[in-house]
Amino acid sequence: MSAMDSTHADIIKLALAALHRGEAIGLPTETVYGLAADASNPRAVRTIFALKGRPADHPLIVHIADADQLDHWAQSIPESARKLAHAFWPGPLTLILKKQAHVPDEVTGGQDSVGLRCPAHPIALEVLRAFGGGLAAPSANRFGRISPTTAQHVHDEFGAAVPIVLDGGECAVGIESTIVDLTGAKPRILRPGMISQARIEAVIGAVEASGNADSPRASGTLEAHYAPRTPLLMLPRNALECEAIEQRAFGKRISVLALQRLPNDCDGVSLPDIPDDYAHGLYAALRHLDARGDNLLLVERPPDTTAWIAVNDRLRRAAAGVGEDDDAP
Ligand code: TXA
Ligand code: MG
Repeated sequence: MSAMDSTHADIIKLALAALHRGEAIGLPTETVYGLAADASNPRAVRTIFALKGRPADHPLIVHIADADQLDHWAQSIPESARKLAHAFWPGPLTLILKKQAHVPDEVTGGQDSVGLRCPAHPIALEVLRAFGGGLAAPSANRFGRISPTTAQHVHDEFGAAVPIVLDGGECAVGIESTIVDLTGAKPRILRPGMISQARIEAVIGAVEASGNADSPRASGTLEAHYAPRTPLLMLPRNALECEAIEQRAFGKRISVLALQRLPNDCDGVSLPDIPDDYAHGLYAALRHLDARGDNLLLVERPPDTTAWIAVNDRLRRAAAGVGEDDDAP
């Protein structure tokens, strides 16, 4: 479906009709593209799992049009949740709350909590408002693969299996939302994202950080998926430059993902050394470099500072050969 065939209004109408039929569509958000379906329709939600090839016990985020819908999906909502929604919605923040009884097990993976987020993308909001209900939407990639940040990435992942992908351009943020669990005694960050721990604490006070990100939290259901497929090695600049020389001496084809500028004689991509700008370009760069089919992808290690927590989290998962989906918090 391209804009040449129909007007914007026609395409939105087609998308809404598909959602009402219980089908999944590609939906742009400000973080990454989602594979969206009616969150109150268990059959529609099962379609998402089938398309992604994702284990059914992985919970999905329900996207809603505004904070007024919180009470429809969640109960016993703490004041901290309303404060965070007020401060950051629409935006890249997901709240884990105690679910209402009617929320399908297919959405929550059988847990008694539900993840809720109001995305800051005009097309996502337009669809959500017109649809009326919630849209369950994981990142629109096959299980264990790199999250998509353009409509073309979604087409590349699913082809004709997902005929309707709304094109909202490049995702502004580029990495998945920050997830805060508000169901426990203390709020806890389950997944770092663009909205930092400091910004969250400025609104609701102390929160616990995500678990030690160095120890993989892989569950027993972990499968051998790789994101990207090319082996990935993360090194500080000097070590990377030496490694590049050595690998080439062995006749290996290498790509480099560098900060700011590529080392001499190296092919690859350089990303800005500003965390938000780096995050914006990260997944497209990994997809591009992975597609080259080289023997090795060398990634320059970003600084180990709080500003880089979310980027380092995604790079560590990629280096471990563990996609975000494989490593549920
Ligand atoms: O930015 C985003 O969050 C994107 C866009 C599309 O909104 N979505 C996204 O969805 O990243 P997904 O399915 O790829 O990742 C959702 C994460 C998973 O790690 C899942 O375990 C966690 O959210 N999650 C969802 N519901 C949860 C719950 N009730 N309890 C704990 N974790 C939950
Ligand atoms: Mg994902």
